[in-house]
Amino acid sequence: MQLFILPPSSHDGLQVRSQIRSPLPVLPPPPSHNAVVVRSLLTTTSMEREQILRDIEYNIFAFPAALVTCDFLTDSGTSAMTDIQWAAVMRGDESYGRNSGYYCLLDAFRDIFERGDTQERIYRDVLAGTADADFYRKKCLKAYEGGFVNGGSVQLSRPNFFIVPQGRCAESLLFSSMKETLVGQSSENVTQPVIISNGFFDTTGAHAAVAGLERQTFLQPGLSDPFPEELIGKRNFFKGNLDIAAAEEFLRKHGDRVALILITITNNFAAGQPVSMANIRQTAAIAKRYRIPLFFDACRFAENAKFIQDFEEGFSTYSIGKIVQEIFSYVDGFTISLKKDGLANMGGALCFRDQGLFTHKFSGHKDKIPIGELIKEHQILCYGNDSYGGMSGRDLMAAAVGLYEVTKESYLRNRISQVQSFAQKLHASGIPVLLPPGGHAIYLDMDGFFDGCDRAPEEFASVGFTIELLRDYGIRAWEAGPFAWEWDKKTTTERKNILNLVRFAVPRNSMTDHQINYTIAAILQLHAKRHTIPGVKIIRGAESRLRHFQSGFALVPVEVKQKVKLEVKQISLYNKIEVFTDPLPFSYFWAVRILDITAGVPA
Ligand code: F0G
Repeated sequence: MQLFILPPSSHDGLQVRSQIRSPLPVLPPPPSHNAVVVRSLLTTTSMEREQILRDIEYNIFAFPAALVTCDFLTDSGTSAMTDIQWAAVMRGDESYGRNSGYYCLLDAFRDIFERGDTQERIYRDVLAGTADADFYRKKCLKAYEGGFVNGGSVQLSRPNFFIVPQGRCAESLLFSSMKETLVGQSSENVTQPVIISNGFFDTTGAHAAVAGLERQTFLQPGLSDPFPEELIGKRNFFKGNLDIAAAEEFLRKHGDRVALILITITNNFAAGQPVSMANIRQTAAIAKRYRIPLFFDACRFAENAKFIQDFEEGFSTYSIGKIVQEIFSYVDGFTISLKKDGLANMGGALCFRDQGLFTHKFSGHKDKIPIGELIKEHQILCYGNDSYGGMSGRDLMAAAVGLYEVTKESYLRNRISQVQSFAQKLHASGIPVLLPPGGHAIYLDMDGFFDGCDRAPEEFASVGFTIELLRDYGIRAWEAGPFAWEWDKKTTTERKNILNLVRFAVPRNSMTDHQINYTIAAILQLHAKRHTIPGVKIIRGAESRLRHFQSGFALVPVEVKQKVKLEVKQISLYNKIEVFTDPLPFSYFWAVRILDITAGVPA
């Protein structure tokens, strides 16, 4: 603690002591939960981890989780659920037709995304065992219509809510059905339909591509701009926003080709940065002007709402419920992975506004089937009937209750502040980190981390960093940089948009400050020896889609690189040898690269 010592005075010792004042320490938010069940971690040595890493070709995704001490690979499906969710799991049932979780989840969506602060919370009767025939008739079979979740007979005649096992299934249902109807509408000289977004998550982009939809990303500039340390926790520039001007420019020229605008909240493509309500409103206005359906990828909607409450003018007195209600009032539909802000270990959904713009634009073309029915057909074919969509009845209960738990203000305050203090501590220790932090993860700026080490993007030194972190400290993080974003396959212009980052995604309710402090110390140690961190060579899977899940690597120690560089320099200086024989792994790669650079050196 910092002490302010007052100038010496003539008073006696006791009085002097009373004049030594410490400023009030900054008070973190009060704790939001107690731990009631814990899991002990296995102790492993770095030697054991090294052996395993070799067995799995250094692909950290393939490393056994039981042997990881701090797992920051993802915040998805890794949340510790609350006791109320576990109670709900016990009350779930596994009937094939209309288990109680189905009704609870449908009404939870109405409560959270439409009703603001006036929620019905029908799950409470199911939990308490007080749901009787009257309850089912009045609450569960009621013919809701006009919103995201039709009810009773209207959900049968105009289906608009679809349960799936996880977010990417919702994306697949949405894009593949859209594509089918677009093909139904098309004439011969059809041009490729486009989706505009502030940022596609990797599976989202991949599903759009598989469905033959072109993607256009317009992210507000400035993601990696420096952010003043003293403003962390006080200001936020909503760096996840859609670049409205660029999107409008595109719409002016190609508006007729744009099939959908998709806003990701928070923007996982852009380091988990939030999107402001103003930006959502502006996006909705242009979507309306061009008559294009607006959707959310709503995986982290609750964290986004908390950022709006904390940082956007005019919202500090709004409840999270009210903010969420307004956010969703602007869209025609959304996909969501309940593995994130559903606080559940599995689950996802797709829904769209009953008889809204999306329905009108995408219905009645392919064999005159309304889009809802088309999606339902796909859902049944791939995931099972609409009562469960590939989820167990118990998981449905967990996700339904999770939606209420994840929107509690005290939970969100702790969640955001844990991630923020992780970033702040790193920054204060001199580790370059993207600021301000987003909602679910901190991102190391690896160009800054390796400053002065002369590392080229195609060395994939940040992958090497994640391997060393796992081997030496048992900590797992994800390279979200040149390797994951396929630097080697991109054009010079595309490469400019690839940031060199490593992501530490913080699982909800499960990480303690002890784990975070341990991780910070480990990162600091690695930073001290950053000159020795190896690069990697992709030995398998370089061409596969989403290759970070599948590739195998060989390590390229820094000494090898240095040695090859030296040899190549000599070669180019003497300007004699054209073919470079290669006794060392990967050195050919370096030879070619460096020969390129030194081609102009005079003999
Ligand atoms: N959209 C976003 C913004 C995501 O972050 C993810 C998953 C998905 C869609 C797909 O959801 O995993 O349930 O199929 N993100 C995880 C991550 C995997 O680690 O960021 P899913």
